[in-house]
Parts: sequence; C-alpha cells; structure tokens
Amino acid sequence: MKSRSIAAVIAAPEFQEGAGFIVHRPFPTARLDHLDPFLLLDEMGPVVYGKGQAIGAPDHPHRGFETVTYLLDGEMQHRDSAGHAGGLHPGDVQWMTAGAGVVHSEMPSDRMQREGGKMHGFQLWVNLPRAEKLVKPGYQEIAGDRIPVWRSADGRVSAKVIGGQVESTRAVIETHTPILFLHVTLQPGAAFTQPIEASFNAFSYVFAGTLAGDGEAGIVRPHAAVLFEHDGEGVTLRAAPESDEPLHVLLLAGKPLGEPVARYGPFVMNTREELVQAFEDFQSGRMGSIPAEVT
Ligand code: FE2
Repeated sequence: MKSRSIAAVIAAPEFQEGAGFIVHRPFPTARLDHLDPFLLLDEMGPVVYGKGQAIGAPDHPHRGFETVTYLLDGEMQHRDSAGHAGGLHPGDVQWMTAGAGVVHSEMPSDRMQREGGKMHGFQLWVNLPRAEKLVKPGYQEIAGDRIPVWRSADGRVSAKVIGGQVESTRAVIETHTPILFLHVTLQPGAAFTQPIEASFNAFSYVFAGTLAGDGEAGIVRPHAAVLFEHDGEGVTLRAAPESDEPLHVLLLAGKPLGEPVARYGPFVMNTREELVQAFEDFQSGRMGSIPAEVT
C-alpha cells in the first residue's frame, strides 16, 4: 500500500484563550482556517493548575456543528440549556452534536477548581452537512473503558478507536459523516498504517514523543499537526527510533463536506444570513439558557 506523503507540518504554539485558558491550536490559524470537515482542534493544556486557579469556558452557545472533547488528565464538568449535566474523567469522550443550538458550560470539576491539578485533553470541532446543521442537539458520552482499543500483534502499537475503525475494531460512537478519530501510541521505532479513503482529508497531531516524518518533513515533536496529501491509500505513522519515550498522536480523517463555511465564534453555518440568524436566536433566548437549579 502506498502511504500518503506529508503536505505540511503546522506548529501549534501555546497561547491563552479567553480568560487565560491555555491551549495549543493548530487550526484555525492564519495558516490553516479549517480542514473540511474539521473546523478546530484545541489541545487543552497540558497545564498544572494550583489551588483555585483552574479555569474553563462558562456559559456559551454553539450551533451548526459538533464539539468532541477527549480528556487525558484532569476532570471536567458540563452543563447545558437542556438541563443535561455530566462529568469527564481521563480517557472519557463527549461527542456533542450542537445542531440547532445549545448553551453550555465546560469547566474543571468543583474538586479541581478547589484543589488544582493537571489538565490535558482535546477539543475537536466537526462540521455538520447543510441538511443536518439544525438537527436536535444530542450527546454521546463514552467512559474511557468503553472506547475500543486495537493492538498490534507485537504489542508495540495501540490505537484507541474513538471514531471509525481499525481492522475489525469499531468505534462505539456514531458520527453524522464518516470520521476516523484515533489516539495511536507507538513505541520508539514502531510504525502503524491505516487505510484511508482517497477523497478524505487526513491529519495527525503529535502530543508526546517524536514522529519520524518522510522527506523534508523530518522529525515532528509536540505540539504540531501533520497534514497529509491525497496521494496514497492510507497513512503511515512512524515513531522515531532514537526517542526514549512512546509517540502519542491523534489520527483524524473525514469525508469533506464540500460546502461553504460561514463561521463566527461559536456558530458555523453555510451563509452569512444563517450566522446573523444564529446570533438573533441566541440573543433572544431561543437557544435557551442553563437552568438555575443545575448551575
Ligand atoms: Fe463549548
């Protein structure tokens, strides 16, 4: 199988978002607005908060896409305008379909706000096709021990299958359009090859260890996204043999929607008029608000 070559490596330097939330963000940036159907990737942290320092994202709306949260370290709590509340622990995934609109808060747990601790994880935004932008909001909340794990015969590579499938290991999360979302762990010198449809956009994101890129890409260290060309039947990830720690990398691929993207802040629609409508619906309270009894 011919593997896709690397099109670009995009560094994701650390910066402070909003009230001081620390993220690495490969896109959207000046260099890359989005990679259809993926709209945003944030690596949250890694950061170690002291007592009373942990911060998150208080009440805010979303419409027209999905937010996927995958936590590695720390604890988060989530509340929304439909009265839904839940917690996320290391390894857990929350796949939220904002659809027609939700107002939610994403905060460190009360315990973490009180005691501090390490926070590390990801938030990915996945676009919805025009016909499904206004679907009823929904959640898939999957505890870490329910995420299927594929392992190589020699035990040197493992892949948590959050979306899509690796050989016969299939994700429990269902997606609106075909999405592959893996957390792959490779021992130094190991390689992993995943077939991917030629039309799909694909990228990986290195967050620990060292990836051995092809040709001019050289080695890739955290925190960086690797974009792949469409010139092969799949993607091969290689962990640099000289590294003294395992490579941890996300591998994401998806069928491009091929539709216009009109985005502003927490709303992603197809036209400017639909964005204006989203603002009006939010401001007039038609996306609801978080009930007082659960805040
Ligand atoms: Fe959010």
